[in-house]
Amino acid sequence: MPVTDQTPVVTLLEGNTPLIPAPAIAAQIGRQVRVLVKYDGLNPTGSFKDRGMTMAISKAKEAGAKAVICASTGNTSASAAAYARRGGMRAFVLIPDGYVALGKLAQALLYGAEILAIKGNFDRALEIVRQMAETYPVNLVNSVNPYRLEGQKTAAFEIVDNLGNAPDWLCIPVGNAGNITAYWMGFCQYHSLGKCDRLPKMMGFQAIGAAPLVTGQAVTHPETIATAIRIGNPASWQKAIAVQTASAGEFNAVSDAEILDAYRFLAAEEGIFCEPASAASVAGLFKVKDRVPSGATVVCVLTGNGLKDPDTAINHSQNTFKQGIEPTLDSVAKVMGF
Ligand code: F0G
Repeated sequence: MPVTDQTPVVTLLEGNTPLIPAPAIAAQIGRQVRVLVKYDGLNPTGSFKDRGMTMAISKAKEAGAKAVICASTGNTSASAAAYARRGGMRAFVLIPDGYVALGKLAQALLYGAEILAIKGNFDRALEIVRQMAETYPVNLVNSVNPYRLEGQKTAAFEIVDNLGNAPDWLCIPVGNAGNITAYWMGFCQYHSLGKCDRLPKMMGFQAIGAAPLVTGQAVTHPETIATAIRIGNPASWQKAIAVQTASAGEFNAVSDAEILDAYRFLAAEEGIFCEPASAASVAGLFKVKDRVPSGATVVCVLTGNGLKDPDTAINHSQNTFKQGIEPTLDSVAKVMGF
């Protein structure tokens, strides 16, 4: 990690998240495939962003920054706000008005971020904050900040530490393409240190309505229920293509219906509540399941906690919520089917 004794480390003890076996997913694939999920929703602010933010904010503090800025579909803003405030800095966040999940907005607000909701999408917000950081005394903490990726690569280290080797496949949701780039950096660094003797095939998944890496065309009006990855022109586009080439990997798109199916499956069959964007990794694995080699070890990255987006959970759960029941034993038993 690019830190020295002089770096004032701003941390909330992020990382070391569990790599949870997912036998129900594996059973859907068969052929002795082993599936695990890296549940990064258990970070301090509920997403993988904390791994990068501890680095970006620590380095900003080291450089004497008084304020940081980011564009965000929600998670980056929550994470930037938490770490910036802990480091004694102002946090400015630009978000696409109306397209940030409720939990993320609640977090950024309570952490004390200064939130600017723009009448435009994430891609436009990112253009603005990049210009802001060039012109004004604010430090940019989006994943174009190289320290973000240095922090996020630690998830790959942990996977190798847990498994004793790299997995055969890594399935990961892709939006701005920083995280897939960071994972690959981590696997390559560990490989060059002799900590693993293979590198995974990097399988990136985007939502069909926001899949520039699949089509090769930027999307002017990206749309998906997975608002975290509602991105049409990823900042790390070229890096992501380089990862695909180097790892013999693929980019594929999944529909919102497939994302929601995987989201419900993870919760109801594995007991794991992630946010919709995170479920794209599992939806993607189901989509290409016939091509997983027999006996392979597959890791799906679950980037964010399900509590981030209570609206989607409530609107798209199974219909198991019965309200207005009379408060008597008989009526409760009757509704239960006894
Ligand atoms: N999953 C979640 C839950 C995310 O919040 C993001 C990105 C991704 C996946 C995709 O990661 O951008 O590195 O390819 N969220 C950013 C944000 C854009 O502003 O919170 P990526």
